[in-house]
Amino acid sequence: MRLASASAPGKVILFGEHAVVYGQPAIAVPLSSVQAEVIAEQGAPGTGLVVDAPQVDVTVCVTNGRVGGSYYNALVYPAQITLEALRQPIPDMRMTLTSTIPIASGLGSGAAIATAIIRGLSQALGTSLDLEELNGLVYNVEMRHHGTPSGIDNTVIVYEQPVYFVRGEPIETFQIAEPLTLLVADSGQASPTRKAVEDVRALYDSAPDHYDAIFAEIGQIAQQARTAIESGALAELGELMTANHALLQALTVSSAGLDRLVTAAQLAGALGAKLSGGGRGGNMIALVTPDRAAAVSSALVANGAITVIETTVQPAG
Ligand code: MEV
Repeated sequence: MRLASASAPGKVILFGEHAVVYGQPAIAVPLSSVQAEVIAEQGAPGTGLVVDAPQVDVTVCVTNGRVGGSYYNALVYPAQITLEALRQPIPDMRMTLTSTIPIASGLGSGAAIATAIIRGLSQALGTSLDLEELNGLVYNVEMRHHGTPSGIDNTVIVYEQPVYFVRGEPIETFQIAEPLTLLVADSGQASPTRKAVEDVRALYDSAPDHYDAIFAEIGQIAQQARTAIESGALAELGELMTANHALLQALTVSSAGLDRLVTAAQLAGALGAKLSGGGRGGNMIALVTPDRAAAVSSALVANGAITVIETTVQPAG
């Protein structure tokens, strides 16, 4: 018997990744064309809580008592902290997880999987967590997975709306004056977010003033980008993206493949382009006018993109 089903989208960071870890603002939007989904069904008595991820051929059994220990599993841990938060024993239940969000690509796969599991399990147990509680639990998972996450990924994915995010401050959303047509292109290289964040930390520790100045410049770009989005100044927004990419190169989180895609997008007529997320691989984004979308998309594929997703961020209402 089906008890619940739940889903969560991917995400794209438009501005401010990495600098956001150091308190600068960042802008992110949900990517609803890719989703993680969970179906929770009643299990036979005595079978416990099983999480099945058939796409990667993994089935795990959720056990008690590992929360806080060194053990971490991306399917088990979200379920454990949910049961702990709801003060529930392990139920007899089977949860099946499927996802169309590419793994390790900077599109928030980990946070979306955690969100879908926590949502699905809590609903199946008859409790609907509010968004703030859910966000807190997914952030807890992100901390186990990434070390020092800013919280932007879980926030944009849990609330599923565009966010202007500053670490530790209440969630802020904003108006979008004109639809934003984005191409999201996968470089085909994995994006090791945790390692990239650690490496930026080491750089920062080696020369705090220098890197603080770069973070501040990125923060200013994010602020200007917010104004450009609110006023529909798309040409300016594109230029801000490209400027943000150059600063991410200075943080050493780009890669030859990402740089090639960014250049190809610009040459094919994109308004701007940059890497998105942790970097070193994963995805880049290009802002385009709808009439250039096909040409830029072809240029991205010709320059090594293994997939290109077109998405439009629409004004609210
Ligand atoms: C990862 O999607 C975004 C980073 O800024 C890390 C973080 O904010 O936790 C690289």
